[in-house]
Amino acid sequence: MAIDLQNILTEEKDGILYVTINRPDKLNALNRKTIEELDSVFTYAQELHTVRVVILTGSGTKAFVAGADISEFSSFTDEEATNLSLFGQNVFSKIESLCKPVIAAINGYALGGGCELALACHLRIASQNAMFGLPEVTLGLIPGYGGTQRLPLIVGRGKALEMILTGAPKDSAWALQAGLVNQVTESENLLAKATEVAQLLTTRGPIALRKAIEATLDPIIDYQLEAKLFGDCFDTEDFREGTSAFLEKRKPVYKGK
Ligand code: COA
Repeated sequence: MAIDLQNILTEEKDGILYVTINRPDKLNALNRKTIEELDSVFTYAQELHTVRVVILTGSGTKAFVAGADISEFSSFTDEEATNLSLFGQNVFSKIESLCKPVIAAINGYALGGGCELALACHLRIASQNAMFGLPEVTLGLIPGYGGTQRLPLIVGRGKALEMILTGAPKDSAWALQAGLVNQVTESENLLAKATEVAQLLTTRGPIALRKAIEATLDPIIDYQLEAKLFGDCFDTEDFREGTSAFLEKRKPVYKGK
């Protein structure tokens, strides 16, 4: 690939583009640079006609993506946070509206922005050790990369609110039963299973796939509202306490201010 990438690995084989988020020492957390690189990679995937299907995964066996990079936004103002949210939403919407199928191969933690990234993909295949969660409330925050809008559409408002309000992680069996993922497989078979599904999709008519994706794009969404509310959280003491506590490796004490 002609783009210079630091945090993402790519490999193209038989019409399938494998995209691997590669910051394993930070559990593949999404810093701004990584989201910018995702933007470039998906622009490339959109334009290159030899790419028929994309498989998106994380490096290592522990994490798909453990969320937005908390260390990067812990000192943000509400305005900077709203802008970050809008930026992430735009890139994730580009993935969701890509004219070819994107399969998330979820190989471990899919938390916060990582769960939201998986939600933006068209199909989700998880390894048995995958864990899903929107733990933003544990940091005094709400999801800001489309999770409040996409999750209710995928699992229904009841289960979505269970995840968003408790912030508690859910295992792969729960995710399968809730419809959050399409399939669960043994960890060692994850990429093989995702490849099998991708190969099937390469046999389908590309124009039909494009039209099917377009026809099923989310009808009721308000990303602007999510970005504004996400930004509002940054104007609170609770948010500063939540992110400081994570970075200082201690439990947060919230005051509701
Ligand atoms: N942002 C920034 N850094 C992160 C991160 C994130 N979202 N998730 C993990 N990391 C970093 C850790 O700070 C640690 O870095 P260090 O070695 O420099 O201290 C490294 O990745 C490994 O994580 P660690 O917490 O030591 O692994 P663990 O196995 O004990 O716990 C998790 C794994 C996923 C439970 C834990 O890392 C976690 O809770 N991460 C944050 C999840 C989150 O809240 N995401 C939503 C953000 S909006």
